[in-house]
Amino acid sequence: MRAAAGHGASFLALPLLLLLVVSAEARSAAAAGRRKGEGTRYSVMAFHAAGDGKTDDSKAFEETWDSACRDSGGATVYVPEGRTFLLGETKLQGPCKSPITMQVDGDIVAPSSIWGLKSLTSLLAFYRVDNLTVDGSGQIDGRGAPWWDCYNKKKCHYRPQLVSFSFCNGLRVTNIRLKDSADKHMSVFECSQVQVHNVTVVAPRDSPNTDGITMGASDHVRISSCNIHSGDDCVSILTGTTDVNVTDVMCGPGHGISVGSLGGAGEKQTMVERITVSNCNFFNTMTGVRIKSWQGGRGKANTFLFTDLNMTEVRYPIYIDQFYCPQGNCPEREGGVAITDARFINIRGTSSEQEAIQILCSKSVPCHGIFLHNVDLSWANHTAPTKAKILNAQGRVAGKVKPQVRFRGL
Ligand SMILES: *[C@@H]1O[C@H](CO)[C@@H](O)[C@H](O)[C@H]1NC(C)=O
Ligand SMILES: *[C@@H]1O[C@H](CO)[C@@H](O)[C@H](O)[C@H]1NC(C)=O
Ligand SMILES: *[C@@H]1O[C@H](CO)[C@@H](O)[C@H](O)[C@H]1NC(C)=O
Ligand SMILES: *[C@@H]1O[C@H](CO)[C@@H](O)[C@H](O)[C@H]1NC(C)=O
Ligand SMILES: *[C@@H]1O[C@H](CO)[C@@H](O)[C@H](O)[C@H]1NC(C)=O
Repeated sequence: MRAAAGHGASFLALPLLLLLVVSAEARSAAAAGRRKGEGTRYSVMAFHAAGDGKTDDSKAFEETWDSACRDSGGATVYVPEGRTFLLGETKLQGPCKSPITMQVDGDIVAPSSIWGLKSLTSLLAFYRVDNLTVDGSGQIDGRGAPWWDCYNKKKCHYRPQLVSFSFCNGLRVTNIRLKDSADKHMSVFECSQVQVHNVTVVAPRDSPNTDGITMGASDHVRISSCNIHSGDDCVSILTGTTDVNVTDVMCGPGHGISVGSLGGAGEKQTMVERITVSNCNFFNTMTGVRIKSWQGGRGKANTFLFTDLNMTEVRYPIYIDQFYCPQGNCPEREGGVAITDARFINIRGTSSEQEAIQILCSKSVPCHGIFLHNVDLSWANHTAPTKAKILNAQGRVAGKVKPQVRFRGL
C-alpha cells in the first residue's frame, strides 16, 4: 500500500488502495479460520512466517499482530503447533480495537547467540494492550546460556527479558511454558487485573537474575497453579504493587517468593500493600517467603499474609531483611522502608540452615505487627532444633511456633 501511495498519482491511488485493502482482507480471511462465536484467527503463517526455527519471523509476527489488533471482533493471533519460530525483538503494541488473544501452540526461540541490543528490551514485548490473553501449549525458549556467560564475565550490561507486559488492563496468561530466559522470564509493569495460571518456567538454578515472574507498579494480580524453577526469585513483587495473590505455586530451585528489593536508589516513596502467598511448595530455595529492602529507603510495605506453605530444605523459610545488600558493602544508614502487618500462618517443613527464621529490621524504622501462628520448621538432616534471629521487630506468636520466637519490647 505504501508503494502505491508513493506513486503520487492521487486519482489512481484511491481505487488502487481500496483494491489492495479488499484483497488483503480476502487473503487473511481465506488464510485464517473463523471459529464459531469467536473472532477471526490470524495465523502467522498467512503473514509469511517461515516457522523453520532458522528464519527470523519477528516481522511476520508484528504484521500478524497489527492486523489482529485492528480487528474489532476479538481476533486471535495464531502460532501453530508443530513448528518453531525464531524471533528477535518483537514489539506487539496496542491499543487494539477489541480484546485480543495470542494463541501460542507452536514453539518460539530466541537467537542462539547474543543478539544486538543497546538497551533493555524483551523478545516479546507487549505494550499498551488491554484485555489480552496469551494462551497455548507452546514453549518460549530464551536460549539464555550465552547471555548468562556474558553477564558473569561482566561483559553484558543489558540482557533481554523473555516476555514483558507494560501498561495493560485485563491480562490473562495461561498454560504456556517459558524456558532459559537471558534475564527475567515474565515481567508485568503498570498493569491492572492480571491473571497468570498454569504457567511453567524452567531455567538452571545457577542462571543469573532469571526470575520467573516479576511485577511492579501493578494491582489486582493473581498467580495460580504455576511451576517455577529458576536461578532467582520464582515471583518478585516490586514497588507500587497492591493486591497480589500467589497461590498453588511450586517454587524451586530459585530464591523463593520475594517482595522487593524495596527502597533502592531512584525510588522516591516505596509502597507495597496487600500481598498474599498461600498453598505453595518451596523446594531447595534460598528463601521461602521474603521481604527485602535497602537501608535508607522511604515508604511503606504492609498487609502481608503468608499461609499454608510447605518448605523442603529451604535455606531461610521466613525472611525479612531491612539491610538488603547483595554485594555486601553497604554502610549503615538511617531510615528505611516501614514494614508492618506481616502474618505467617501454617508454615511447615525443613530448612537447610539452622537459623530458619530471620526477621532483621533496622533500629530507626523497626518492623511492627509481625504475627506467627502454627509454624513448624526443623533443620534438615540435623537433630538440633532450628533457631530464629529477630532484630528490632515487634510482634506476637500464637499456637505452636518452632523455632521459638521471642519479640522484645521496642
Ligand atoms: C477491555 O475490557 C473492559 C472491561 O470489560 C472494557 O471496558 C474495555 O472497553 C475493553 N477494552 C478493549 C480494548 O477491549
Ligand atoms: C497446563 O498447561 C500444560 C502445558 O500447556 C497443559 O498440558 C495442561 O493441560 C494444562 N493444565 C490444565 C489443568 O489446564
Ligand atoms: C486476593 O485474595 C483476597 C482475599 O481472598 C481477595 O479479597 C482479593 O480479591 C484477591 N485478589 C486477587 C487479585 O485475586
Ligand atoms: C511438602 O513437600 C514435600 C517434598 O516435596 C512433599 O513430599 C510433601 O508431600 C509436601 N506436603 C504437602 C502437605 O504438600
Ligand atoms: C540431607 O540428606 C540427604 C540424604 O543424604 C541429601 O540428599 C540432602 O542433600 C541433605 N540436605 C541437606 C540440606 O543437607
